[in-house]
Amino acid sequence: MIRLFVALELPEAVRDRLVGLEGGVPGARWAHDDQLHLTLRFIGEVPENVGHDVDDALASIRAPGFELELAGVGEFGGKNPRALWAGVRPNAALVHLQKKVETALQRIGLEPETRKFSPHVTLARMRSAPREKVVAFLSHYALFSSGPFPVNRFVLFSSHQGSGGSVYHPERVYPLES
Ligand code: 2AM
Repeated sequence: MIRLFVALELPEAVRDRLVGLEGGVPGARWAHDDQLHLTLRFIGEVPENVGHDVDDALASIRAPGFELELAGVGEFGGKNPRALWAGVRPNAALVHLQKKVETALQRIGLEPETRKFSPHVTLARMRSAPREKVVAFLSHYALFSSGPFPVNRFVLFSSHQGSGGSVYHPERVYPLES
């Protein structure tokens, strides 16, 4: 079995900016530079042969490259925040690509993703962080913006459990059209 997800990588300069936001919330496990990405589709554990079908399906996608901009920060979990993330400025080309990925994966028999696509870059995971520190983080970086950057490929990652959290390994890279 192999645990897979489809994601966009982020340029080094953007990752540097994101790492610069990290801190100030006790109990948060902050993402390392090499863990920062934007997930288009979580696939989960699949047998190796399904992994090959996934690869073929993704390789058949034709979609244009585009510019993306990260903007703002947010949390998942409400009263008991479990993740902090950087948001994405609304982007039709990103949604278009995500839909193509979803369609291609359903065509090979994967169960549809039922959750609405809410693009984000996870910065931290946590179990019990002080609510007021989370609120302070959110207000401090509400106006965060990465500036626009080009996206000219997407990536099939495998995920492995390491001692310092998940380790993501790029299995295959798919170019977008220029
Ligand atoms: P997250 O950052 O919001 O947790 C690898 O785990 C990537 O797949 C992460 O970006 C994660 O999103 C995403 N993902 C989506 N659904 C998931 C799930 N059910 N389990 C683990 N990761 C999931």
